[in-house]
Amino acid sequence: MVLNFAHRGSLTEAPENTLPAFQKAIDHGAKAIELDVQLTKDQQLIVCHDHKLTRFNKHSTKRIKDMTLAEIKEIDVSGSFQEYEGTTLGTLSEVLEICPNDLLINIEIKNIPVIYEGIEEILIQCLSDHNRFHDVIISSFDHMALKNVQDIVPSMPIGMLFYYRILQPWKYAKQSGLVVTSIHPNQVYTDRELVEQCKSFGYKIFPYTVNDEEHYEKLVEYGVDGVFSNNPGVFGGI
Ligand code: G3P
Ligand code: CA
Repeated sequence: MVLNFAHRGSLTEAPENTLPAFQKAIDHGAKAIELDVQLTKDQQLIVCHDHKLTRFNKHSTKRIKDMTLAEIKEIDVSGSFQEYEGTTLGTLSEVLEICPNDLLINIEIKNIPVIYEGIEEILIQCLSDHNRFHDVIISSFDHMALKNVQDIVPSMPIGMLFYYRILQPWKYAKQSGLVVTSIHPNQVYTDRELVEQCKSFGYKIFPYTVNDEEHYEKLVEYGVDGVFSNNPGVFGGI
């Protein structure tokens, strides 16, 4: 089965990375979702992609790491989705509350270029509070963060993200000392060799972000295990 992740929820239908976007994806029957986590000034896990909220409110110029949760909850992130006016970002805890038990959740630690000291412990504590060690993958471009996660919970499924082309990422993953479950390459450079080599090393492969259906079909033909997609038609809906 090809497993497709609703990237930041169903972001074409509701503000990205918000509860309505995840609810839409769930309503469409998505088997998996992807979300980004960061840490506020008061050490709360907030679900958000950007390091600042300027894209949603031009007056909001502080970094998330310098904002409290209360300050973040004052920012309307509905953007062009008028029907969602007043929507604010959710905490990871709030998102986990609405996720069914069998929904696979890819939690990306957004650690670059900001380093959120201690985010790994706080994330693990949150998963523990929600009894959610099943059906979770922790991914990051920051592979030190992945190591920190696996040092705390050795059995935690780890997704290794790559933005740039690197030589033989399957060997890098093997030599990293981490127990990597899946490799998440940029779709731009995902070719047949990359897919076949990752799989021969025992890794699942989930390229991001694949929105075009023709390209999606090609990647499936190469043998990918799934993709991250903004296109509800790919991740299960419409
Ligand atoms: O996890 C896949 C993808 O979300 C990584 O890129 O920038 O959309 O978080 P980005
Ligand atoms: Ca992401």
